[in-house]
Amino acid sequence: MQTEKVRLAIIGCGGMAGAHLNAYIGLKNRGIDIFDFVAMCDVDTDRAKGFAVRAAEVQGGVEPKVYGDIDKMLEEETLDGADICGPHFLHHSLAIACFEAGVDVIVEKPLGVTVRAGWKMIKSAEAHNRILATAEQVRRWVGPRTVEWLINKEKRIGAPRMFFRQSVSGTNKDPENLLRDEMTTWRKDKLTSGGNGIIDGGVHYIDLLIYFFGEPDEVYARSENLNQYQFKEAGGNHVPQTVEDTALATITFKSGVIGQWVNTGAAPGRSIGYNSYHGSIGSIYSTGGYPQSPELQLWDGNVDDPDTLQRTYMASLGPEEKGRLFPHGITEGVMLEVYDFLDAVRTRRRPELDGVDGLKAQAVCNAIYESGWLGQAVKFDDVYNDRVTGYQDEINERWEI
Ligand SMILES: NC(=O)c1ccc[n+]([C@@H]2O[C@H](COP(=O)([O-])OP(=O)(O)OC[C@H]3O[C@@H](n4cnc5c(N)ncnc54)[C@H](O)[C@@H]3O)[C@@H](O)[C@H]2O)c1
Repeated sequence: MQTEKVRLAIIGCGGMAGAHLNAYIGLKNRGIDIFDFVAMCDVDTDRAKGFAVRAAEVQGGVEPKVYGDIDKMLEEETLDGADICGPHFLHHSLAIACFEAGVDVIVEKPLGVTVRAGWKMIKSAEAHNRILATAEQVRRWVGPRTVEWLINKEKRIGAPRMFFRQSVSGTNKDPENLLRDEMTTWRKDKLTSGGNGIIDGGVHYIDLLIYFFGEPDEVYARSENLNQYQFKEAGGNHVPQTVEDTALATITFKSGVIGQWVNTGAAPGRSIGYNSYHGSIGSIYSTGGYPQSPELQLWDGNVDDPDTLQRTYMASLGPEEKGRLFPHGITEGVMLEVYDFLDAVRTRRRPELDGVDGLKAQAVCNAIYESGWLGQAVKFDDVYNDRVTGYQDEINERWEI
């Protein structure tokens, strides 16, 4: 079955939703006219209205309807798909409301605020025979696709052995002053975010590790709130941050690959940022948060530069694979992820990253918190299957998950 055009809503019209909106508009501007913006929903209706005005520009002046309440929107509109970009603690309730109304969903990472929230989403999508896609753009970039090709298809580093990632930075404001002028957001509160950098941006990194090395096995980690910052509430009072700013994790995979991830925003001074992947005959190295610019170096000192590697990778793709990974020649990650969702909705196929994929990547992040909570290593399977939950218990209790 092929739906003519996907009748689409965006739910949560904040920062990241702006990147999604740009990506959908980019599709229309390329002549890929496979959807209509039907509704924009945000509790802040001014934001939703701003999105509606921009959407109208690429659909002949037809403005999507603006809603401040998802239930009203689902009652009044006939939708095929919804793109959920709300805060983490709402992902499950927003997504489940959509499934119950017969609407397919793409939801921003991490899938849910806890593992249990993620399972509820997966089960609800299954029960209502709906598509649940996790928005995950990083692996879709040419750099990470090239790394996967080098490791798994070309076997250029030999047998994969180890990985390392350091993301080390700190404040450039007076570190002794714990009272921050910035307003607190849902990100600084454990109950609304589920955690800080590890589960927020970090889930992209774990998705890459799973893409490169397969199923995780065990996690040992420490996670700390070293800065102890206090941010301002709406009323002007300072409230403590209740999520980590630092985590050090050792992660093993069922294949035997082992590695370390250091993620801190509590180390003022010189910052460090790199990714590396090591095998029995060589390594792949990239500066920055993700392997966007991978360099290959073999045991004999031979080096292949990032541009050559990425060009060779793109040239190696046959028409079917190129059409699947970079449809219409698109190489921009968010545009690729929203296209993948729209195409999955129209053709009733599985998106590249469904709810289970999203939950697996998220569960490694949860395992880092659970290991820190317990002070001992945890098995990935125990966290993924919601058997180890100490860190997450108060979040599940707060939202009755
Ligand atoms: N993929 C990426 O690179 C990336 C980057 C940033 C954020 N994100 C993800 O995107 C999501 C949103 O993050 P953000 O930075 O855009 O946050 P944000 O706070 O800027 O936006 C969230 C929006 O949701 C709205 N909202 C709150 N409650 C709502 C409700 N009940 N119904 C409808 N709308 C509601 C808020 O008013 C706000 O406009 C998160 O899951 C986050 O992790 C992903």
